[in-house]
Amino acid sequence: MAGDSSRLAPDARILVTGGAGFIGSAYVRDVLARRDGARITVLDKLTYAGNRANLAAVEADPEQAARFSFVIGDIADPEAVGPLVAESDAVVNFAAESHVDRSILEPEAFLRTGVIGVHVLLEAVRIESAARVAAGRPAVRYLQVSTDEVYGSVADGHSVESDRLDPRSPYSAAKAAGELLVNSYVVTHGVDAVVTRGSNTYGPFHHPEKLIPLFVTNAIDDQPLPMYGDGLQQRDWLFVSDHAGAIDHVLRHGTSGETYNVPGSAEMVNRDVIAGLLERLGKPWTLVRTVPDRPGHDRRYALDGSKLAALGWRNRTSFDDGLATTVDWFRANEAWWRAAKSGDWDAYYERQYGARLAASSAASTRPEA
Ligand code: NAD
Ligand code: TYD
Repeated sequence: MAGDSSRLAPDARILVTGGAGFIGSAYVRDVLARRDGARITVLDKLTYAGNRANLAAVEADPEQAARFSFVIGDIADPEAVGPLVAESDAVVNFAAESHVDRSILEPEAFLRTGVIGVHVLLEAVRIESAARVAAGRPAVRYLQVSTDEVYGSVADGHSVESDRLDPRSPYSAAKAAGELLVNSYVVTHGVDAVVTRGSNTYGPFHHPEKLIPLFVTNAIDDQPLPMYGDGLQQRDWLFVSDHAGAIDHVLRHGTSGETYNVPGSAEMVNRDVIAGLLERLGKPWTLVRTVPDRPGHDRRYALDGSKLAALGWRNRTSFDDGLATTVDWFRANEAWWRAAKSGDWDAYYERQYGARLAASSAASTRPEA
């Protein structure tokens, strides 16, 4: 079943699970805008992180809307998944609980979606692929969106795809488990599947629980910015349209059974990211508070991108351009992020930051200042 025969036709029907979230919605918007023949169905549970407004541009464009449909449902529900996979040529699975801090507070949903949900998708892909191959048609291609966090904290150097997995949070452990299930279905059942491991992603429509959108929106409101520990943790920042484009490239050109790192364009410590967004906003460093660190906080992630580069993919967005676009988008879209910071947000914020901010101190100046 695996191999070149299943690489996709331009008018392939793609099932995008988790397509109402941050990266999934960017993928849907980009693919429908870029490829005339593309047809997409989104399956999304619409958790607190899923938002149909992220796809409003698609639904407002009659030509794109005609090639798009939206189904509310859970990837862990075989009855929702089976019929949708049966009418698709490919499945791209973005669906996950995605915030490390929430996985420390309440891990169950991470396991249900990241392990059971991935298994339900793989079973549906296996069954449908077997029927198609028996009829002389290509298998359904599956792409699992994973993360650099499965490597754990990387003291120095850059992770390559063959490195040992060492997940250290409930979030990254669930993501690693999902990947291992994918591999088991490739090896045991010959399912046609690829995996991407993306680095920290940022951009428009990013839920304000994550570092960059939380700090941008808090700073707009002159609220404190809770920086964990010394703020010298390092991430490799990837602009969302580059991440979405890389996923589409691997879906079309990746070899079944292979995993591809998707690095960003800027390896930076948190303090420098924070300084950059404050500068763009014209807000002072005095908003930053040093708060007690995240338990088990991974100090550094860094990816080697040679394998993806050899497949022909290059990022297009520098960190300076991406951050400027992001900050400007949040300034121009207050209604979007104020809605995301409503409902259960205050209870979450108090639980996550209440005691931390009470124990906080003014952050020292930036290291190089
Ligand atoms: P997100 O939290 O913004 O979106 C997740 C989406 O999945 C939401 O629309 C949510 O409603 C949906 N969802 C959750 N559980 C579901 C279920 N059981 N069934 C159907 N839909 C469900 O996440 P994101 O930041 O867009 O991340 C997307 C994927 O990319 C995730 O798999 C994540 O692990 C991975 N990833 C994220 C980053 C990052 O920096 N954000 C980096 C690397 C990899
Ligand atoms: P985050 O956006 O949660 O992504 P991840 O944990 O998946 O890397 O966090 C990015 C970095 O920012 C990470 O080192 C934790 C840090 N951070 C803070 O210092 N304060 C915060 O309030 C948050 C949400 C993150």
